[in-house]
Amino acid sequence: AGSGKFFVGGNWKCNGTKDSITKLVSDLNSAKLESDVDVVVSPPFVYLDMVSSSLTDRIKVSAQNSWIGKGGAFTGEISVEQLKDIGCKWVIHGHSERRHIIGEDDQFIGKKAAYALNEGLGVIACIGELLEEREAGKTFDVCFRQLKAFADVVPSWDNVVIAYEPVWAIGTGKVATPQQAQEVHVAVRIWLKKNVSEEVASKTRIIYGGSVNGSNCGELAKQEDIDGFLVGGASLKGPEFATIVNSVT
Ligand code: G3P
Repeated sequence: AGSGKFFVGGNWKCNGTKDSITKLVSDLNSAKLESDVDVVVSPPFVYLDMVSSSLTDRIKVSAQNSWIGKGGAFTGEISVEQLKDIGCKWVIHGHSERRHIIGEDDQFIGKKAAYALNEGLGVIACIGELLEEREAGKTFDVCFRQLKAFADVVPSWDNVVIAYEPVWAIGTGKVATPQQAQEVHVAVRIWLKKNVSEEVASKTRIIYGGSVNGSNCGELAKQEDIDGFLVGGASLKGPEFATIVNSVT
């Protein structure tokens, strides 16, 4: 960890029921969390309001997506204004599941992120390469292309956290080694320095996601350019998520 306050997000994805989420919220409310960490959880839309009103203020709530502009006749979408209305502070954009399963492209993702930032939400901006891209030596090309699509449109980097999530590590139990993650994180920081500014490069948190759990978080957190985590599966268990939050060094 190096830049800014350690940041740990729990991305619950499309998981949970009223019962399981009530239990998870109660575990999180009673967990002991290091004070020097920004902690955010991202429940499915239908439970956002319930989580936002029952969760301790210590933990902020994030959406997993948001619409590209003002609300209106957009069936199935949720607007940034609605998210703010129920107390949501963050939104995730560019997650690999939306890029590769839903088919969202760099420009669409960039526009949604820019709109959310302009309206005052923080954005967890995800980037990351597929296994075949890594094997073809294209990891940096892909990550920089995705990053540029954000950089081209974001009004400011103040409320942006970058999440590096190599797709081959997501939900596979195959975590990147601390060296593999650090290598990309430092490259992202250098890219920001060259293409945005030295200040943004040094202040922006770059967090790692992909099979992070209570046992591997400690070694990852020691890396200089890993400023936190975006956690999927392990964030569905309150005590394990707390262990990850508390891995701040
Ligand atoms: O956004 C977090 C994520 O994609 C990582 O998921 O289950 O590998 O921790 P998981």
